[in-house]
Amino acid sequence: MRVLENGYTVRDLGIDSISALANLHKSSFTQGWGAHDFALFLQDQKMKVLGAFPNGNPDLMAYLLVRCVADEAEVISLAVGRRHRRRGVAVGLLDAAIDTLYDKGIKELHLEVDESNKAAVELYVQAGFEVIGERRAYYKAKKGEKASNALMMRLVLADETEF
Ligand SMILES: CC(C)(COP(=O)(O)OP(=O)(O)OC[C@H]1O[C@@H](n2cnc3c(N)ncnc32)[C@H](O)[C@@H]1OP(=O)(O)O)[C@@H](O)C(=O)NCCC(=O)NCCS
Repeated sequence: MRVLENGYTVRDLGIDSISALANLHKSSFTQGWGAHDFALFLQDQKMKVLGAFPNGNPDLMAYLLVRCVADEAEVISLAVGRRHRRRGVAVGLLDAAIDTLYDKGIKELHLEVDESNKAAVELYVQAGFEVIGERRAYYKAKKGEKASNALMMRLVLADETEF
C-alpha cells in the first residue's frame, strides 16, 4: 500500500473490486467492459491491478491495469473518476506501478492511446513516455467525426547498458 502526496491511497485490488472496476470503466469509456472482463483480468497472474482510494474512503475512484509479459509490460486500462481528476492520481498510480515493474526486472512499459484523448496523451508525455509509432484511423469514428489515430508509446524503465 502507498499513500500519495495528495492523500489518496494506492493498493493492489482483488476480486472484491470487480463491480467497482466495471462501474468506473463504464463511466470513463464509451464501450464499457463488464464484470466478467474484470473477473478474468483479476485472475490473470500476469496482470497487475492497482486501485486508488480517497483518504479514509473505501470507494474505488481510480484504477490502473498493467499486463507483464517477459521483461515488457503494457498499460491495458487507466481511469480516474471524474470528480477526482487533475489531482495527480493517475500520475500516482503510474509511479506506483512503475516502481513495482522496475523491481520485477521489467525493462519497458508500452501503451496505445487515442491521439484525440489530449488528457491521456499529456499525462503519458509528462510521465516520460515517448511516441514510437501510430496506427492510422485505428479508433472507430463517432457519428459525424473522423476516425482517430492510435499513438503507440513507450517508457524505458531500464537500459541494457545499466548495471
Ligand atoms: C486521463 C486520466 C486518466 C488523467 O487522470 P488524472 O488523475 O486527472 O491525471 P493527473 O491529475 O495525474 O494529471 C497528470 C498530468 O496529466 C495531464 N492532464 C491530465 N488531465 C488533463 C487534461 N484534462 N487536459 C490536459 N492535460 C491533462 C497534465 O499534464 C497533468 O499535470 P498537471 O495537472 O500538473 O497539469 C483521466 O482524465 C481519465 O480517467 N480519463 C478518462 C479515461 C481515459 O482516457 N483513460 C486513459 C486511456 S489511455
